[in-house]
Amino acid sequence: MSTAETARTCPVHNFNHMEEMPYGEKIARYDRLRDEAPVIRNDFANGHYIVTRYEDILSVYQDAETFSNSAVTVFVPEPTYKWIPEMLDGDEHLQWRRQLGPQFSPKAVERLEEKVRDRAVALIESIAERGSCDFMQDFAFQFPSFIFLELMGLPFAHLDRFMEWEHAILHPSASDADALTREREQAMVAVNEYFAEVIADRRANPGDDLISNAIAFQVDGKPVSDEDMGSFCLLMFMAGLDTVSATLGISFYHLATHQEDRQRLVDDPDLIPTAIEEFIRAYAIVLPARKAMRDTEIAGCPIKAGEMISVPLNLATRDESVYEDAKDVKIDRTPNNHIGFGAGPHRCLGSHLARRELKIAMEEWHKRIPNYRLAPGGAPTESGAQLGPNGGVLLEWDV
Ligand code: HEM
Repeated sequence: MSTAETARTCPVHNFNHMEEMPYGEKIARYDRLRDEAPVIRNDFANGHYIVTRYEDILSVYQDAETFSNSAVTVFVPEPTYKWIPEMLDGDEHLQWRRQLGPQFSPKAVERLEEKVRDRAVALIESIAERGSCDFMQDFAFQFPSFIFLELMGLPFAHLDRFMEWEHAILHPSASDADALTREREQAMVAVNEYFAEVIADRRANPGDDLISNAIAFQVDGKPVSDEDMGSFCLLMFMAGLDTVSATLGISFYHLATHQEDRQRLVDDPDLIPTAIEEFIRAYAIVLPARKAMRDTEIAGCPIKAGEMISVPLNLATRDESVYEDAKDVKIDRTPNNHIGFGAGPHRCLGSHLARRELKIAMEEWHKRIPNYRLAPGGAPTESGAQLGPNGGVLLEWDV
């Protein structure tokens, strides 16, 4: 752990990172925290620490024995739920990862390519003639949800209820921490009830989908219980939907407000994969947390066992000491060795799929709607458990 700064105390703030604000203000707030000190105490709700610099953030991710995944939401140090595999530690986590790996390999993702591309084309063609859209509602929420349903072997007709649950869990509207937690937990119960029925059905009639495949896994030599299957489905739902939606929203908001970058991608689509990496770096959305398992220190700041630690990825990926002009978005940045998908044992399992979804969306969109701009009043707001727009991003173009 870096001890470049050895202050025994750290600055104290009090803010709710879930509150709604104009898009961009949260990232700016986090940037200021990094400039202020390597560790910040946030007294909001039950209180937690925020680690602000790349090296220390990476050390926390890599030291899974000291910093446990058994609680990954700063407001909830003693969760009554478990998301599998994200909230597992040690050997149990490793066993799940080993069996899940092939389900998310580049080869497995390749097999989804045609369906994913067809869906993107159908959605974009339904929008193109309109000359304007609410990008989040009309495209960014629907496209990844379709892929999630496909992966899990669930009917597309269930899209609307998934989108409702997704908002309650990841963008709850309640204003105090207890009400936020209640709103999220109620939605998680509803998701669990839904999946309990699906799991029972797949045990009886297995198909060729992720749920059926996971039912065949073994952990400690035993089949996975219904409860753990439910926890796995819940995590898949949390991990696969909102992350891609938010990244799409941020990327298209950037392109609509930086017309030279948009035109470069239209003229040279080969630049799309490099641009995607840069959006994932510069606007890293996920705000993971860990729980300290023993008394320790980070950058000289003492941390007691049981304390929650926030390790926001955007604080690492926008750190000027690691990335040149870190706050500038350069869509041709190479090399770009970022940690926007996390680091350590819990690094994102779905990164190949996410990259593929983003690439297909950008390729097909720019073929059909190359000249779009932000519509008047179209700037988004953001709120919720991760960064990124959850509404707004109104686009318009000439037809
Ligand atoms: C741009 C889109 C995405 C981003 C930025 C992203 C980011 C992340 C991050 C940062 C983590 C680590 C969280 C932690 O350290 O606590 C993670 C974990 C995970 N992600 Fe993603 N993710 C994305 C898309 C996806 C997709 C599409 C899937 C699957 C459908 C997925 C599946 C997972 C799973 C299963 C984990 C848990 C891994 C573990 O605990 O071992 N992700 N993701």
